Amino acid sequence: MIETSARVKSLPGYPLAEIPSIKRRLIESGMDVIDLGAGDNDTPPPRIAVDAMTDALADPAYSKYGFQQGLPAFRQAASRWIEQRFGKRFDPVTEILPLIGSKDGLAHLPFAVVNPGDATIVPEPGYQAYLGGSLLAGAEPYIAPLLPETKFLLEMERVPAAVLQRACLAFVNYPNNPTAAVATPEYLERTVAVCRRHDILLAYDNAYCDLTFDGYRAPSIFEIPGASEVALEFFSLSKSFSMTGWRLGFAAGRAELIGALTRVKSYTDTGPFLAVQKAGAAVLDRAEEVVAPIRQELERRRDAAVPALRDAGFSLELPKAAMYLWVALPGIKSADFSRRALEEQGVVVLPGSGFGPAGEGFFRIALTVGPDRLRQAAERLGRVLAATRRGELATTA
Ligand SMILES: Cc1ncc(COP(=O)(O)O)c(C=O)c1O
Repeated sequence: MIETSARVKSLPGYPLAEIPSIKRRLIESGMDVIDLGAGDNDTPPPRIAVDAMTDALADPAYSKYGFQQGLPAFRQAASRWIEQRFGKRFDPVTEILPLIGSKDGLAHLPFAVVNPGDATIVPEPGYQAYLGGSLLAGAEPYIAPLLPETKFLLEMERVPAAVLQRACLAFVNYPNNPTAAVATPEYLERTVAVCRRHDILLAYDNAYCDLTFDGYRAPSIFEIPGASEVALEFFSLSKSFSMTGWRLGFAAGRAELIGALTRVKSYTDTGPFLAVQKAGAAVLDRAEEVVAPIRQELERRRDAAVPALRDAGFSLELPKAAMYLWVALPGIKSADFSRRALEEQGVVVLPGSGFGPAGEGFFRIALTVGPDRLRQAAERLGRVLAATRRGELATTA
């Protein structure tokens, strides 16, 4: 009998794992399903990307292994993009690393820095790759709850001193998934200061930096003085450019840290498909032109969904960024609510508890369908809320 490892057994269930099969069953039974689950935008990938990829597919050179540097043009485009977007310069050869989606870099990073007995600081609710990567690398994750009263900010100063002493890595993500919270420069300064004081690598996950609304601009961690000594930043082409399935992102930071992650990855993969890197380079060079309509559409969706959900009885903030709404659910278990929403009303939403127990009391909506469908979804979710409340009254009466 082959036993799986204790590390694999320690992984909690992945929140999105069971939804596709339930959804398929409901669609087969004739139900009209509105899927607001995964953060997978419905807008098509950019024409520029498709054309660059098509050219690359016709050239056998792009079908080779991307050993070593991968496609230098992608590294250069990533470096130019960071410089133009945030005013910081990173050497394309030593300070940038192409990733098979930013998940690749975030999940593999613990292997580069964790030693036995080390702790990682993991936000909850949060993107599950931080926890999974930490557990697989043998780290002891310290779960830092993101709470409404601290505006869903991971407050390093609230982490116990004993944990800070053992911690080698902290994951910080703003604009945030799933809460859509954003970070102020003052918060980032405090966070960098704690990381510097305790020699903690700050993995700053900036996957949503270009999906911002109402004129808000999301900063890079490297805009904070002193951050370059302790931080690596992770960027993704998935969300800004509707390229989730293409699997492309990159990390930026000090050469020694990028070098350590490169070394880990040289044993686990051979980098993103070169043709995808060519497409990525083309998109990054025209990033603002590509992302502007996606951002506008998300803002339109947010502006349709938030009042519709409030009308339906829910309470939620108007987010400044990301592509999610984090909706409060007092008194109802989020997993029960989400299951009823799917099975009775055909609406896929993610329970807060799927992002870890500290996410309980909320559910997440991804703005992945147009305004009309979002309004329809809000109405259906309102029916589930009303039915659940009636049910609760009935049982307590
Ligand atoms: C916070 C956060 N970081 C990173 C990622 C990974 O993105 P990708 O691997 O597609 O670049 C996601 C995807 O949902 C995310 O929500």
